[in-house]
Amino acid sequence: MTYRYLLSVMVGLISVAGLLLGYYLSMLPGTSQVMVRTPTEYEYVSIAGPIQPIPKLKSIDPLWRNLGRALFNSPLLSTDNTVACASCHVVSQGGDDGFPVSAGINGSIGSRNSPTVLNSAFNFRQFWDGRSADLAEQVLGPIHNPIEMGSNFSQIILKLKQSPEFVQAFRQVSPAGITQAAIIKALVTFEESLITPNAPIDRFLMGDKFALSAQQKIGYRKFVDFGCVSCHQGRNIGGNLYQRLGRIAGVPEKLLKDKGRFKITKNPNDQYVFKVPSLRNINRTAPYFHNGSVATLSEAVTIMAKGQLGIDLTKSDIEDLLALFEAFNGHLPKGQL
Ligand code: HEC
Ligand code: HEC
Repeated sequence: MTYRYLLSVMVGLISVAGLLLGYYLSMLPGTSQVMVRTPTEYEYVSIAGPIQPIPKLKSIDPLWRNLGRALFNSPLLSTDNTVACASCHVVSQGGDDGFPVSAGINGSIGSRNSPTVLNSAFNFRQFWDGRSADLAEQVLGPIHNPIEMGSNFSQIILKLKQSPEFVQAFRQVSPAGITQAAIIKALVTFEESLITPNAPIDRFLMGDKFALSAQQKIGYRKFVDFGCVSCHQGRNIGGNLYQRLGRIAGVPEKLLKDKGRFKITKNPNDQYVFKVPSLRNINRTAPYFHNGSVATLSEAVTIMAKGQLGIDLTKSDIEDLLALFEAFNGHLPKGQL
C-alpha cells in the first residue's frame, strides 16, 4: 500500500519534472524555430457510409490563428502591396472570388478558377491538380507565382519588420521573430480554422432524420445511386482522390484545354486528371470547374452525370441534386472569421 503510494508519487514527480524540462528547452532560443502552443485538433466522428461528417474544431491556438488571419488579409504579401490571399479567397463569401479565373498583381489573369479555402485542411492534396502535398507547401505557390503575388519571403519579411503590429504579433508566438516558417505556420493555422461543420447533411448522417427535406432525401438517394459518391465522398464530399474528367462520355470542348495532372507528371494516363473537388458549400462557389467556364450548378451536374457516369439527367433529377446541395452548406464556427 505505502510502497504503491510512494511509487505513484515518484512517477508523478518525474513526469512533472519532464514537463518542466521540456517547457524550459522549448523556450531556449534556437531549439525550435517556431513555438507550438496549442496544436490544432479536431473532434472526428466516423459513421458507416461514403460521406463523413466534418469534424468540429477541438482546439486551435488563437494567437497563431489571429496572426494568420492578419497575414491572409495583408497585401504586404504581394510584391506591389496590391493583392492579399483574401483578394482571391473571400472567406465570408464561400472562400473563393466568384470569378471564372483570378486576377493577381498588375491585373494579370490566371488560367484556373480560385477554389474555396473553406475545409481545405481536409483535402488530401492541394490545388486542382494536387501538385502541393499540404497547406504548408501550398502557401509557396501564390507568393512566388509571378501573376498572383510575385513576391518572395525575404521581401515579405523586410516589409513585415517595418510594421510594429506584425513585429509585436510575431514576437508573441515565435522566439525567432518574423521567419518564413512562422509566416507559413500562421497562415496554415488560420486555414485550419476555416471549416464548416454542422451542415444539414452532417446532422442527417449522424441520425437527425429531420435535417433534410423530403426532396433533399430524394436528392441524396440519387447522389448515391447514380454514383456521384464514388468520387465525391469522405469528409469533404470530395478532395480525397484524383479522377479523370470526362471518364465515360467526354466533356464539352471548353473544358479540354487544361490537361490537369498531365502538366505535372507528363504521364499520358494523367491527361485530364484532376483532384475531385469538395462539394461542401458548392452553391456559394460559382462559377465551376478548374477554369470556371461553367456558370451554373445545373450545367455542372448535367456535364458530370453525362461525362463521368454516362447518365442523362431529367429536369427533376437536376432539381433534386440542387436541393441536396443546399444541405452541403455548413457554418464557419463563430469567432473563426
Ligand atoms: C491571384 C489570386 C490568388 C491569390 C492572391 C491567392 N490564391 Fe490561392 N488559389 C488561387 C487559384 C487560382 C488557385 C488554384 C490554382 C491551381 O489549382 O492551379 C488557388 C488555390 C489555393 C488553395 C488550394 C485549395 C484546393 O482545394 O486545392 C489554397 C489552400 C489557397 N489557394 C490558399 C491561398 C493562400 C494562403 C494565399 C496567400 C498566401 C493565396 N491562396 C493567394 C488564387 C489565388
Ligand atoms: C469519376 C469521378 C466523378 C464522378 C462519378 C462525379 N464527379 Fe463531379 N467532379 C469530378 C472531378 C474530377 C471534378 C473536377 C473537374 C474539373 O474541374 O476539371 C468534378 C467536379 C464537379 C463539380 C464542380 C465543382 C467545382 O468546385 O467547380 C460538381 C458540382 C460536381 N462535380 C458534381 C457531381 C455530381 C452531381 C455527380 C453525380 C451526378 C458527380 N459530380 C460525379 C469527378 C467526378
